[in-house]
Amino acid sequence: MLETTTQQPTQTTPNTALAASARGLTKTYGRGDAQVHALRGVDLDLPAGRFTAIMGPSGSGKSTLMHCLAGLDQPNSGSVAAAGVALESLDDTALTRFRRDHLGFVFQAFNLLPMLTAGQNILLPLELSGRGQDADTKARYDYVIGVLGLTDRIGHRPSELSGGQQQRVAIARALVSNPAIVFADEPTGNLDSESSAEVLGFLRRSVRELGQTVVMVTHELEAAAYADDVVVINDGVVVAHLAEPSAEQLVAALRARTGAPHDNGQGAA
Ligand SMILES: Nc1ncnc2c1ncn2[C@@H]1O[C@H](COP(=O)(O)OP(=O)(O)OP(=O)(O)O)[C@@H](O)[C@H]1O
Ligand SMILES: [Mg+2]
Repeated sequence: MLETTTQQPTQTTPNTALAASARGLTKTYGRGDAQVHALRGVDLDLPAGRFTAIMGPSGSGKSTLMHCLAGLDQPNSGSVAAAGVALESLDDTALTRFRRDHLGFVFQAFNLLPMLTAGQNILLPLELSGRGQDADTKARYDYVIGVLGLTDRIGHRPSELSGGQQQRVAIARALVSNPAIVFADEPTGNLDSESSAEVLGFLRRSVRELGQTVVMVTHELEAAAYADDVVVINDGVVVAHLAEPSAEQLVAALRARTGAPHDNGQGAA
């Protein structure tokens, strides 16, 4: 199933400072003429306690990279360590449990269960892992719904909430278990600009005030402006990893052509 070409990351990187790291990630979809090299040798270290945006054009491999980092998809080769755990060392059951206990997810489609209230949606993952009744959980739940401004909507079902409120419920659900990393793929893709600003502000606050690590895929400059760091991916390779870039630096990196720094010789189709 999973090929591994290297076992390096957990040995060479201190777990405390890094939320996730990848070495030599490749991912190919399809075969023959239809083959797509979605990732062509990605090396990446993501620091803990920061808000990192992954940017790049449509089809550049952003979601594929995030899915591999989060154990939602397996690379063809290379290795990933998340929260200090080498994902390739986990079987399917252990990987599912690892995701449930240590990672949080926010997607473009809010993925809330329509028959449950906002509060029940937020607590569902913790109920499933048996932590729903812990004192820590209750305290964090109250704090998170307060920070996200959901306290007076908590008994409502998703159909009775605005898009921005639904996405805030999804963020609360991702945050309440105190995960090592929250992964968000285009979390504002279905929101108007006002709700987007609100949701991005809350993600940033979760980093500043809760010490959360957030990794967010986006193709919007306005969204990336909320992040501390920006990873730019183009045609399956990382072309820049910028700490607190200015708007000018970011635009220059997004204009950079594919391949130059990390070309692994596979070439594009
Ligand atoms: N399941 C799949 N089967 C075949 N090809 C796929 C699959 N998933 C992704 N791809 C291809 O891999 C490449 C990278 O896709 P990916 O979804 O990672 O891009 P992206 O940067 O997230 O794009 P977008 O901004 O449009 O979401 C694309 O060429 C895409 O068509
Ligand atoms: Mg995508």
